[in-house]
Amino acid sequence: MTGSAPAAAPVRVLFVCLGNICRSPLAEVIMRDLVSRAGLAGHIEVASAGTSDYHAGEPAHRGSIAAAERHGLSLAAHAARGVTEADLDAWDWLVAMDTDNRNGLQHLDRHQRRHDRIVLLLDYAHGDGPRDVPDPYYSGGFEAVYALITRGCEGLLEAVRSTPPSQR
Ligand code: 4NP
Repeated sequence: MTGSAPAAAPVRVLFVCLGNICRSPLAEVIMRDLVSRAGLAGHIEVASAGTSDYHAGEPAHRGSIAAAERHGLSLAAHAARGVTEADLDAWDWLVAMDTDNRNGLQHLDRHQRRHDRIVLLLDYAHGDGPRDVPDPYYSGGFEAVYALITRGCEGLLEAVRSTPPSQR
């Protein structure tokens, strides 16, 4: 027999906040950068969405754009979108930025078929700290949000790498 084994399908990770303009777009580019640095581009696919579609089609918030740029990352390609029921099946990990976002995802998953895929980002952050990424939309604090999301994504990447696809 010739040829090589088919490439495994990428593990798919969707970050979810409320508006998909502040926190989850940052998580998306931070995680994509970590994945790339780990040599896993093509093995882990990353995107983001909001539990609301208030800002659908809009670019990321200027505070998130600036925070990303300070760390050498770009949000130029971002266009906000609302999460849909189809996302529950399409993504292996649905990673909420805060407890309200997680509740929103669980509500969307009304038959509870995918509850095991819905997780809270900062449950993967090592050490003590908040469980919710604070919403910077009204209060600012984008740099602190960037740091928290980075800690969460570092732990999440370890978890994604060590979870067999069959367990998602
Ligand atoms: P995000 O922040 O959920 O991190 O994108 C927000 C964006 C917009 C609103 C609230 C939070 N808003 O009320 O429009």
